[in-house]
Amino acid sequence: MSNTSANSAKKLFIKTWGCQMNVYDSNRMADILRPLGYQTTDTADDADMIILNTCHIREKATDKVFSDLGRLRPLKEKKEKEGGQLLMAVAGCVAQAEGDFILERAPYVDMVFGPQTYHELPEMVIEANGGDRIINTDFDGENKFDKLPEEQQNSGSSAFLSIQEGCDKFCTFCVVPYTRGAEYSRDVQAIVDEGKRMVDGGALEITVLGQNVNAFHGIGPDGSTWGLGELLRALHDIDGLERLRYTTSHPRDMDDDLIAAHGELPKLQPFLHLPVQSGSNKILKAMNRKHDRDLYFDVIERLRKARPDITFSSDFIVGFPGETDQDFEDTMDMVRRVEFVSCYSFKFSARPGTPAANMQNLVRDDVASERLSRLQALLNEQQAEFNRKSVGMTLPVLLDRKGKKPGQLVGRSPFMQSVFVQGNERLMDTIVDIKITEGFDNSLTGEIVTSESITHTA
Ligand code: SAH
Ligand code: SF4
Ligand code: F3S
Repeated sequence: MSNTSANSAKKLFIKTWGCQMNVYDSNRMADILRPLGYQTTDTADDADMIILNTCHIREKATDKVFSDLGRLRPLKEKKEKEGGQLLMAVAGCVAQAEGDFILERAPYVDMVFGPQTYHELPEMVIEANGGDRIINTDFDGENKFDKLPEEQQNSGSSAFLSIQEGCDKFCTFCVVPYTRGAEYSRDVQAIVDEGKRMVDGGALEITVLGQNVNAFHGIGPDGSTWGLGELLRALHDIDGLERLRYTTSHPRDMDDDLIAAHGELPKLQPFLHLPVQSGSNKILKAMNRKHDRDLYFDVIERLRKARPDITFSSDFIVGFPGETDQDFEDTMDMVRRVEFVSCYSFKFSARPGTPAANMQNLVRDDVASERLSRLQALLNEQQAEFNRKSVGMTLPVLLDRKGKKPGQLVGRSPFMQSVFVQGNERLMDTIVDIKITEGFDNSLTGEIVTSESITHTA
Protein backbone atom coordinates (compact mmCIF):
# COMPACT_ATOMS: atom_id res chain seq x y z
CA MET A 1 0.00 0.00 0.00
CA SER A 2 1.35 3.41 -0.86
CA ASN A 3 1.20 5.22 2.43
CA THR A 4 1.87 8.74 1.33
CA SER A 5 2.31 11.27 4.11
CA ALA A 6 -0.86 13.11 5.06
CA ASN A 7 0.91 16.40 4.47
CA SER A 8 2.09 15.95 0.90
CA ALA A 9 -0.19 18.04 -1.31
CA LYS A 10 -2.30 15.89 -3.56
CA LYS A 11 -4.79 17.21 -6.04
CA LEU A 12 -8.48 16.45 -6.07
CA PHE A 13 -10.71 17.15 -9.06
CA ILE A 14 -14.48 16.91 -8.52
CA LYS A 15 -16.96 17.23 -11.37
CA THR A 16 -20.54 17.80 -10.25
CA TRP A 17 -23.77 17.19 -12.11
CA GLY A 18 -27.38 17.51 -10.98
CA CYS A 19 -29.05 19.43 -8.20
CA GLN A 20 -27.70 21.75 -5.53
CA MET A 21 -27.62 18.87 -3.05
CA ASN A 22 -24.88 17.41 -5.21
CA VAL A 23 -23.02 20.73 -5.14
CA TYR A 24 -23.25 20.70 -1.34
CA ASP A 25 -22.09 17.06 -1.24
CA SER A 26 -19.10 17.81 -3.47
CA ASN A 27 -18.03 20.60 -1.13
CA ARG A 28 -18.31 18.26 1.82
CA MET A 29 -16.25 15.58 0.04
CA ALA A 30 -13.53 18.18 -0.41
CA ASP A 31 -13.77 18.96 3.33
CA ILE A 32 -13.40 15.29 4.24
CA LEU A 33 -10.43 14.75 1.97
CA ARG A 34 -8.51 17.89 2.96
CA PRO A 35 -7.05 16.38 6.16
CA LEU A 36 -5.77 13.50 4.01
CA GLY A 37 -3.71 16.01 2.05
CA TYR A 38 -6.00 16.59 -0.92
CA GLN A 39 -6.40 20.12 -2.28
CA THR A 40 -9.06 20.80 -4.91
CA THR A 41 -8.01 21.69 -8.44
CA ASP A 42 -9.99 23.01 -11.42
CA THR A 43 -8.53 20.62 -13.94
CA ALA A 44 -8.46 16.87 -14.16
CA ASP A 45 -5.06 16.94 -15.90
CA ASP A 46 -2.90 17.06 -12.79
CA ALA A 47 -5.27 15.32 -10.37
CA ASP A 48 -4.34 12.50 -7.98
CA MET A 49 -8.00 11.76 -7.38
CA ILE A 50 -11.00 12.36 -9.63
CA ILE A 51 -14.56 12.19 -8.31
CA LEU A 52 -17.49 12.32 -10.72
CA ASN A 53 -20.48 13.32 -8.61
CA THR A 54 -23.34 12.22 -10.81
CA CYS A 55 -27.08 12.73 -11.35
CA HIS A 56 -29.55 10.08 -12.44
CA ILE A 57 -32.68 12.16 -12.86
CA ARG A 58 -33.14 11.92 -16.63
CA GLU A 59 -32.03 9.71 -19.48
CA LYS A 60 -28.49 9.46 -20.80
CA ALA A 61 -27.17 10.15 -17.28
CA THR A 62 -25.26 6.87 -17.22
CA ASP A 63 -24.00 7.33 -20.81
CA LYS A 64 -22.58 10.72 -19.88
CA VAL A 65 -20.71 9.22 -16.96
CA PHE A 66 -19.21 6.48 -19.11
CA SER A 67 -18.16 8.92 -21.79
CA ASP A 68 -16.45 11.10 -19.18
CA LEU A 69 -14.78 8.07 -17.65
CA GLY A 70 -13.54 7.06 -21.08
CA ARG A 71 -12.00 10.49 -21.63
CA LEU A 72 -10.34 10.51 -18.21
CA ARG A 73 -8.95 6.99 -18.38
CA PRO A 74 -5.77 7.95 -20.32
CA LEU A 75 -4.86 10.34 -17.48
CA LYS A 76 -4.85 7.43 -15.08
CA GLU A 77 -2.77 5.27 -17.44
CA LYS A 78 -0.26 8.07 -17.94
CA LYS A 79 0.07 8.68 -14.22
CA GLU A 80 0.59 4.98 -13.54
CA LYS A 81 3.22 4.72 -16.28
CA GLU A 82 5.08 7.52 -14.50
CA GLY A 83 4.97 5.49 -11.30
CA GLY A 84 2.20 7.58 -9.73
CA GLN A 85 -1.37 6.85 -8.81
CA LEU A 86 -4.69 8.36 -9.83
CA LEU A 87 -7.78 7.25 -7.92
CA MET A 88 -10.98 7.38 -9.97
CA ALA A 89 -14.33 7.52 -8.18
CA VAL A 90 -17.95 7.67 -9.23
CA ALA A 91 -20.24 9.20 -6.61
CA GLY A 92 -23.81 10.50 -6.47
CA CYS A 93 -27.06 9.15 -7.79
CA VAL A 94 -25.80 7.18 -10.82
CA ALA A 95 -23.35 5.44 -8.50
CA GLN A 96 -26.21 4.62 -6.15
CA ALA A 97 -28.42 3.26 -8.93
CA GLU A 98 -25.85 1.58 -11.18
CA GLY A 99 -22.87 0.92 -8.94
CA ASP A 100 -22.29 -2.74 -9.86
CA PHE A 101 -22.65 -2.01 -13.56
CA ILE A 102 -20.07 0.78 -13.35
CA LEU A 103 -17.50 -1.43 -11.61
CA GLU A 104 -18.08 -4.16 -14.17
CA ARG A 105 -17.92 -1.97 -17.25
CA ALA A 106 -15.13 0.35 -16.16
CA PRO A 107 -12.41 -1.79 -14.54
CA TYR A 108 -10.22 1.27 -14.02
CA VAL A 109 -12.73 2.82 -11.59
CA ASP A 110 -11.45 2.43 -8.02
CA MET A 111 -14.38 3.62 -5.91
CA VAL A 112 -18.14 3.77 -6.31
CA PHE A 113 -20.16 5.34 -3.50
CA GLY A 114 -23.60 6.87 -3.07
CA PRO A 115 -24.93 10.08 -1.55
CA GLN A 116 -25.38 8.45 1.88
CA THR A 117 -21.91 6.95 2.28
CA TYR A 118 -19.39 9.59 1.24
CA HIS A 119 -18.59 10.34 4.90
CA GLU A 120 -16.67 7.04 4.79
CA LEU A 121 -14.27 8.40 2.16
CA PRO A 122 -11.17 8.28 4.40
CA GLU A 123 -11.56 4.49 4.90
CA MET A 124 -12.43 3.99 1.23
CA VAL A 125 -9.32 5.89 0.12
CA ILE A 126 -7.07 3.78 2.33
CA GLU A 127 -8.55 0.58 0.92
CA ALA A 128 -8.38 1.83 -2.66
CA ASN A 129 -4.76 2.87 -2.17
CA GLY A 130 -4.15 -0.70 -1.08
CA GLY A 131 -5.48 -1.90 -4.42
CA ASP A 132 -9.07 -2.84 -3.47
CA ARG A 133 -12.00 -1.78 -5.61
CA ILE A 134 -14.70 -0.26 -3.44
CA ILE A 135 -18.45 -0.24 -3.80
CA ASN A 136 -20.28 1.49 -0.98
CA THR A 137 -23.94 2.13 -1.69
CA ASP A 138 -25.71 0.87 1.44
CA PHE A 139 -28.39 2.87 3.14
CA ASP A 140 -27.41 1.60 6.57
CA GLY A 141 -29.32 4.17 8.55
CA GLU A 142 -26.13 5.77 9.84
CA ASN A 143 -26.46 9.52 9.93
CA LYS A 144 -23.85 10.88 7.57
CA PHE A 145 -24.31 14.44 8.90
CA ASP A 146 -23.17 13.35 12.40
CA LYS A 147 -20.00 11.90 10.91
CA LEU A 148 -18.99 14.77 8.65
CA PRO A 149 -16.25 17.13 9.82
CA GLU A 150 -17.16 20.78 10.26
CA GLU A 151 -17.23 22.33 6.82
CA GLN A 152 -14.08 24.24 5.85
CA GLN A 153 -14.76 24.79 2.20
CA ASN A 154 -15.24 28.52 1.93
CA SER A 155 -18.78 28.54 0.64
CA GLY A 156 -18.61 32.13 -0.62
CA SER A 157 -21.13 34.94 -0.25
CA SER A 158 -24.00 32.72 -1.39
CA ALA A 159 -23.95 29.42 0.49
CA PHE A 160 -25.94 26.18 0.30
CA LEU A 161 -26.86 24.35 3.50
CA SER A 162 -28.41 20.85 3.36
CA ILE A 163 -31.10 20.45 6.00
CA GLN A 164 -33.13 17.55 4.70
CA GLU A 165 -32.40 14.60 2.48
CA GLY A 166 -34.24 11.92 0.63
CA CYS A 167 -37.89 11.72 -0.27
CA ASP A 168 -40.90 9.62 0.71
CA LYS A 169 -43.23 11.05 -1.93
CA PHE A 170 -42.58 8.46 -4.65
CA CYS A 171 -43.79 10.43 -7.65
CA THR A 172 -44.12 7.71 -10.27
CA PHE A 173 -41.54 9.21 -12.65
CA CYS A 174 -38.79 9.98 -10.14
CA VAL A 175 -35.61 8.16 -9.08
CA VAL A 176 -34.84 10.33 -6.06
CA PRO A 177 -36.55 8.14 -3.40
CA TYR A 178 -34.40 5.25 -4.68
CA THR A 179 -31.08 7.11 -5.04
CA ARG A 180 -31.26 9.28 -1.92
CA GLY A 181 -33.35 7.04 0.28
CA ALA A 182 -35.96 7.85 2.89
CA GLU A 183 -36.68 11.34 4.07
CA TYR A 184 -34.48 12.52 6.89
CA SER A 185 -34.24 15.91 8.64
CA ARG A 186 -31.18 17.21 10.51
CA ASP A 187 -31.45 18.63 14.01
CA VAL A 188 -32.19 22.35 14.20
CA GLN A 189 -29.17 23.23 16.37
CA ALA A 190 -26.70 21.58 14.00
CA ILE A 191 -28.23 23.51 11.09
CA VAL A 192 -28.21 26.85 12.88
CA ASP A 193 -24.59 26.30 13.98
CA GLU A 194 -23.58 25.50 10.42
CA GLY A 195 -25.45 28.60 9.19
CA LYS A 196 -23.57 30.77 11.71
CA ARG A 197 -20.24 29.37 10.57
CA MET A 198 -21.17 30.10 6.97
CA VAL A 199 -22.00 33.71 7.86
CA ASP A 200 -18.76 34.02 9.86
CA GLY A 201 -17.00 32.75 6.75
CA GLY A 202 -18.52 35.49 4.59
CA ALA A 203 -21.93 34.18 3.50
CA LEU A 204 -24.53 36.92 3.01
CA GLU A 205 -27.09 34.55 1.58
CA ILE A 206 -27.99 31.02 2.66
CA THR A 207 -30.13 28.69 0.62
CA VAL A 208 -31.30 25.75 2.70
CA LEU A 209 -31.56 22.60 0.66
CA GLY A 210 -33.49 19.37 0.51
CA GLN A 211 -35.08 17.22 -2.20
CA ASN A 212 -38.29 17.92 -0.37
CA VAL A 213 -37.16 20.79 1.77
CA ASN A 214 -40.52 21.91 3.11
CA ALA A 215 -41.20 18.42 4.46
CA PHE A 216 -38.50 19.36 6.99
CA HIS A 217 -39.34 18.14 10.49
CA GLY A 218 -36.17 18.41 12.56
CA ILE A 219 -35.81 18.18 16.32
CA GLY A 220 -35.55 21.65 17.82
CA PRO A 221 -33.40 22.65 20.82
CA ASP A 222 -36.54 22.34 22.96
CA GLY A 223 -36.95 18.70 21.97
CA SER A 224 -40.10 19.31 19.91
CA THR A 225 -40.35 18.84 16.15
CA TRP A 226 -39.85 22.01 14.13
CA GLY A 227 -41.21 22.66 10.67
CA LEU A 228 -39.43 24.68 7.99
CA GLY A 229 -41.19 27.92 8.98
CA GLU A 230 -39.77 27.70 12.50
CA LEU A 231 -36.31 26.82 11.22
CA LEU A 232 -36.33 29.80 8.84
CA ARG A 233 -37.20 32.09 11.74
CA ALA A 234 -34.21 30.78 13.71
CA LEU A 235 -31.86 31.23 10.74
CA HIS A 236 -33.29 34.68 10.09
CA ASP A 237 -31.94 35.78 13.49
CA ILE A 238 -28.32 35.16 12.50
CA ASP A 239 -26.53 38.53 12.60
CA GLY A 240 -24.83 39.37 9.34
CA LEU A 241 -27.07 37.16 7.25
CA GLU A 242 -28.86 39.26 4.63
CA ARG A 243 -30.77 36.77 2.51
CA LEU A 244 -32.52 33.47 3.03
CA ARG A 245 -33.92 31.06 0.43
CA TYR A 246 -35.02 27.42 0.40
CA THR A 247 -35.36 24.81 -2.32
CA THR A 248 -36.93 22.48 -3.52
CA SER A 249 -40.46 22.49 -2.19
CA HIS A 250 -43.46 20.30 -2.74
CA PRO A 251 -46.83 22.10 -3.08
CA ARG A 252 -48.46 19.76 -0.57
CA ASP A 253 -46.00 20.65 2.18
CA MET A 254 -46.55 24.43 2.04
CA ASP A 255 -48.15 24.69 5.48
CA ASP A 256 -49.73 27.79 7.06
CA ASP A 257 -46.73 28.53 9.22
CA LEU A 258 -44.32 28.44 6.27
CA ILE A 259 -46.61 30.67 4.22
CA ALA A 260 -46.87 33.10 7.14
CA ALA A 261 -43.05 33.18 7.37
CA HIS A 262 -42.99 34.73 3.89
CA GLY A 263 -44.96 37.66 5.24
CA GLU A 264 -42.90 38.03 8.41
CA LEU A 265 -39.28 37.53 7.42
CA PRO A 266 -37.78 40.33 5.34
CA LYS A 267 -34.61 38.34 4.64
CA LEU A 268 -36.66 35.58 3.03
CA GLN A 269 -36.41 36.45 -0.65
CA PRO A 270 -39.53 37.05 -2.75
CA PHE A 271 -38.92 34.12 -5.08
CA LEU A 272 -40.00 30.50 -4.70
CA HIS A 273 -39.28 27.46 -6.84
CA LEU A 274 -42.40 25.35 -6.52
CA PRO A 275 -42.45 22.44 -8.98
CA VAL A 276 -45.92 21.43 -10.16
CA GLN A 277 -45.04 19.09 -13.10
CA SER A 278 -48.45 19.25 -14.79
CA GLY A 279 -51.63 21.31 -14.83
CA SER A 280 -53.87 18.30 -15.48
CA ASN A 281 -55.56 16.63 -12.53
CA LYS A 282 -55.56 13.30 -14.34
CA ILE A 283 -51.81 13.44 -14.97
CA LEU A 284 -51.05 14.72 -11.46
CA LYS A 285 -52.85 11.67 -10.17
CA ALA A 286 -50.97 9.30 -12.47
CA MET A 287 -47.75 10.96 -11.31
CA ASN A 288 -48.77 10.30 -7.68
CA ARG A 289 -48.13 13.95 -6.89
CA LYS A 290 -50.70 13.84 -4.09
CA HIS A 291 -52.11 17.27 -4.98
CA ASP A 292 -54.39 18.67 -7.65
CA ARG A 293 -54.30 21.89 -9.63
CA ASP A 294 -56.61 23.70 -7.25
CA LEU A 295 -54.29 23.06 -4.34
CA TYR A 296 -51.47 24.59 -6.37
CA PHE A 297 -53.52 27.69 -7.23
CA ASP A 298 -54.55 27.99 -3.60
CA VAL A 299 -50.96 27.83 -2.33
CA ILE A 300 -49.86 30.46 -4.87
CA GLU A 301 -52.70 32.75 -3.85
CA ARG A 302 -51.96 32.42 -0.13
CA LEU A 303 -48.26 33.10 -0.71
CA ARG A 304 -49.11 36.19 -2.76
CA LYS A 305 -51.34 37.39 0.01
CA ALA A 306 -48.55 36.92 2.57
CA ARG A 307 -45.86 38.50 0.40
CA PRO A 308 -47.35 40.53 -2.45
CA ASP A 309 -44.11 40.87 -4.48
CA ILE A 310 -43.35 37.13 -4.43
CA THR A 311 -42.56 35.48 -7.78
CA PHE A 312 -42.58 31.82 -8.77
CA SER A 313 -40.70 29.32 -10.83
CA SER A 314 -41.59 25.70 -11.44
CA ASP A 315 -40.69 22.41 -13.11
CA PHE A 316 -42.85 20.77 -15.76
CA ILE A 317 -42.84 17.37 -17.38
CA VAL A 318 -44.59 17.03 -20.76
CA GLY A 319 -45.42 13.81 -22.54
CA PHE A 320 -46.07 11.80 -19.37
CA PRO A 321 -47.78 8.49 -20.34
CA GLY A 322 -51.47 9.11 -21.06
CA GLU A 323 -51.10 12.89 -21.51
CA THR A 324 -53.72 14.00 -24.07
CA ASP A 325 -53.92 17.30 -25.92
CA GLN A 326 -56.46 18.43 -23.33
CA ASP A 327 -54.17 17.50 -20.44
CA PHE A 328 -51.41 19.51 -22.03
CA GLU A 329 -53.77 22.46 -22.58
CA ASP A 330 -54.52 22.30 -18.84
CA THR A 331 -50.81 22.78 -18.22
CA MET A 332 -50.68 25.74 -20.61
CA ASP A 333 -53.72 27.21 -18.88
CA MET A 334 -52.08 26.86 -15.49
CA VAL A 335 -48.94 28.63 -16.73
CA ARG A 336 -51.02 31.50 -18.12
CA ARG A 337 -52.88 31.85 -14.84
CA VAL A 338 -49.90 31.73 -12.49
CA GLU A 339 -47.40 33.75 -14.62
CA PHE A 340 -44.01 32.33 -13.72
CA VAL A 341 -40.73 34.22 -13.90
CA SER A 342 -38.41 31.33 -14.81
CA CYS A 343 -39.02 27.61 -15.16
CA TYR A 344 -37.51 24.29 -16.12
CA SER A 345 -39.39 21.96 -18.41
CA PHE A 346 -38.57 18.47 -19.60
CA LYS A 347 -39.86 15.69 -21.81
CA PHE A 348 -40.84 12.67 -19.74
CA SER A 349 -37.96 10.25 -19.49
CA ALA A 350 -38.69 6.68 -18.41
CA ARG A 351 -36.34 5.88 -15.53
CA PRO A 352 -35.58 2.22 -14.88
CA GLY A 353 -37.16 0.96 -11.67
CA THR A 354 -39.82 3.69 -11.40
CA PRO A 355 -43.54 2.85 -11.80
CA ALA A 356 -43.99 5.24 -14.75
CA ALA A 357 -41.39 3.29 -16.73
CA ASN A 358 -43.94 0.46 -17.07
CA MET A 359 -46.94 2.60 -17.97
CA GLN A 360 -48.85 2.18 -21.21
CA ASN A 361 -50.21 4.93 -23.48
CA LEU A 362 -46.84 6.41 -24.24
CA VAL A 363 -46.88 9.80 -25.90
CA ARG A 364 -45.16 9.82 -29.31
CA ASP A 365 -41.82 11.57 -29.18
CA ASP A 366 -42.68 14.08 -31.90
CA VAL A 367 -45.89 14.99 -30.06
CA ALA A 368 -43.99 15.44 -26.79
CA SER A 369 -41.35 17.56 -28.54
CA GLU A 370 -43.99 19.78 -30.05
CA ARG A 371 -45.68 20.26 -26.68
CA LEU A 372 -42.36 20.99 -25.02
CA SER A 373 -41.53 23.72 -27.52
CA ARG A 374 -44.96 25.32 -27.14
CA LEU A 375 -44.65 25.26 -23.35
CA GLN A 376 -41.12 26.62 -23.44
CA ALA A 377 -42.15 29.43 -25.80
CA LEU A 378 -44.83 30.50 -23.31
CA LEU A 379 -42.48 30.21 -20.30
CA ASN A 380 -39.76 32.17 -22.12
CA GLU A 381 -42.27 34.86 -23.00
CA GLN A 382 -43.29 35.18 -19.35
CA GLN A 383 -39.68 35.35 -18.22
CA ALA A 384 -38.79 37.99 -20.84
CA GLU A 385 -41.86 40.00 -19.88
CA PHE A 386 -40.87 39.95 -16.21
CA ASN A 387 -37.32 41.01 -17.10
CA ARG A 388 -38.62 43.87 -19.25
CA LYS A 389 -40.85 45.01 -16.41
CA SER A 390 -37.79 45.17 -14.14
CA VAL A 391 -36.28 48.01 -16.21
CA GLY A 392 -36.23 51.23 -14.22
CA MET A 393 -36.37 49.46 -10.86
CA THR A 394 -33.55 49.63 -8.35
CA LEU A 395 -32.81 46.13 -7.05
CA PRO A 396 -30.38 44.95 -4.38
CA VAL A 397 -28.04 42.54 -6.15
CA LEU A 398 -25.63 40.12 -4.48
CA LEU A 399 -22.58 40.33 -6.75
CA ASP A 400 -20.82 36.97 -6.53
CA ARG A 401 -19.28 36.29 -9.94
CA LYS A 402 -17.02 38.02 -12.41
CA GLY A 403 -18.42 38.44 -15.91
CA LYS A 404 -16.60 37.62 -19.15
CA LYS A 405 -16.08 41.26 -20.09
CA PRO A 406 -13.33 43.25 -18.33
CA GLY A 407 -14.67 45.01 -15.22
CA GLN A 408 -17.97 43.16 -15.39
CA LEU A 409 -19.58 41.75 -12.25
CA VAL A 410 -22.60 39.45 -12.10
CA GLY A 411 -25.08 38.73 -9.35
CA ARG A 412 -28.62 37.79 -8.47
CA SER A 413 -31.60 40.01 -7.87
CA PRO A 414 -34.05 39.05 -5.10
CA PHE A 415 -36.03 37.30 -7.86
CA MET A 416 -33.00 35.20 -8.95
CA GLN A 417 -32.50 37.17 -12.15
CA SER A 418 -28.86 37.36 -13.30
CA VAL A 419 -27.80 41.00 -13.29
CA PHE A 420 -24.71 42.21 -15.22
CA VAL A 421 -23.02 45.44 -14.21
CA GLN A 422 -19.70 47.30 -14.64
CA GLY A 423 -18.15 47.75 -11.23
CA ASN A 424 -15.06 47.80 -9.09
CA GLU A 425 -13.81 44.37 -8.11
CA ARG A 426 -13.99 45.29 -4.44
CA LEU A 427 -17.78 45.15 -4.77
CA MET A 428 -17.54 41.39 -5.27
CA ASP A 429 -19.37 39.50 -2.54
CA THR A 430 -21.42 42.49 -1.46
CA ILE A 431 -25.04 43.49 -2.00
CA VAL A 432 -25.27 46.59 -4.15
CA ASP A 433 -28.26 48.63 -5.30
CA ILE A 434 -28.46 48.46 -9.05
CA LYS A 435 -30.72 50.44 -11.34
CA ILE A 436 -31.89 48.12 -14.08
CA THR A 437 -31.34 49.61 -17.54
CA GLU A 438 -32.12 46.68 -19.86
CA GLY A 439 -34.10 43.47 -19.58
CA PHE A 440 -33.27 40.53 -21.83
CA ASP A 441 -34.75 37.04 -22.17
CA ASN A 442 -32.47 35.53 -19.51
CA SER A 443 -30.75 38.42 -17.76
CA LEU A 444 -30.68 42.07 -16.84
CA THR A 445 -28.08 44.80 -17.12
CA GLY A 446 -27.89 47.79 -14.85
CA GLU A 447 -25.86 50.54 -13.28
CA ILE A 448 -24.65 50.87 -9.73
CA VAL A 449 -26.65 53.41 -7.78
CA THR A 450 -24.43 55.69 -5.75
CA SER A 451 -27.02 58.14 -4.51
CA GLU A 452 -28.30 57.69 -0.98
CA SER A 453 -31.83 58.63 -1.95
CA ILE A 454 -33.02 55.49 -3.64
CA THR A 455 -36.18 53.66 -2.81
CA HIS A 456 -36.05 49.91 -2.70
CA THR A 457 -38.53 48.18 -4.90
CA ALA A 458 -37.84 44.78 -3.43
N1 SAH B 1 -37.70 17.34 -5.49
C1 SAH B 1 -38.12 18.15 -6.55
C2 SAH B 1 -37.52 17.84 -7.88
C3 SAH B 1 -36.61 16.75 -8.09
S1 SAH B 1 -36.02 16.43 -9.69
C4 SAH B 1 -39.62 18.05 -6.64
O1 SAH B 1 -40.24 17.34 -5.92
O2 SAH B 1 -40.18 18.69 -7.47
C5 SAH B 1 -36.05 17.90 -10.59
C6 SAH B 1 -37.02 17.90 -11.72
O3 SAH B 1 -36.66 16.95 -12.69
C7 SAH B 1 -38.43 17.50 -11.33
O4 SAH B 1 -39.15 18.54 -10.75
C8 SAH B 1 -39.02 17.04 -12.64
O5 SAH B 1 -39.62 18.11 -13.33
C9 SAH B 1 -37.80 16.56 -13.41
N2 SAH B 1 -37.84 15.10 -13.54
C10 SAH B 1 -37.70 14.20 -12.56
N3 SAH B 1 -37.83 12.94 -13.05
C11 SAH B 1 -38.07 13.07 -14.37
C12 SAH B 1 -38.31 12.14 -15.42
N4 SAH B 1 -38.35 10.85 -15.20
N5 SAH B 1 -38.51 12.65 -16.67
C13 SAH B 1 -38.48 13.97 -16.90
N6 SAH B 1 -38.25 14.89 -15.95
C14 SAH B 1 -38.05 14.45 -14.69
FE1 SF4 C 1 -39.00 13.11 -6.84
FE2 SF4 C 1 -41.51 13.60 -6.27
FE3 SF4 C 1 -39.74 13.31 -4.32
FE4 SF4 C 1 -39.67 15.47 -5.86
S1 SF4 C 1 -41.32 14.89 -4.48
S2 SF4 C 1 -37.94 14.21 -5.25
S3 SF4 C 1 -40.28 14.67 -7.84
S4 SF4 C 1 -40.41 11.74 -5.73
FE1 F3S D 1 -29.90 14.24 -9.67
FE2 F3S D 1 -29.66 12.86 -7.48
FE3 F3S D 1 -30.06 15.49 -7.37
S1 F3S D 1 -30.69 12.22 -9.29
S2 F3S D 1 -31.29 15.83 -9.19
S3 F3S D 1 -28.28 14.47 -8.19
S4 F3S D 1 -30.89 13.94 -6.03
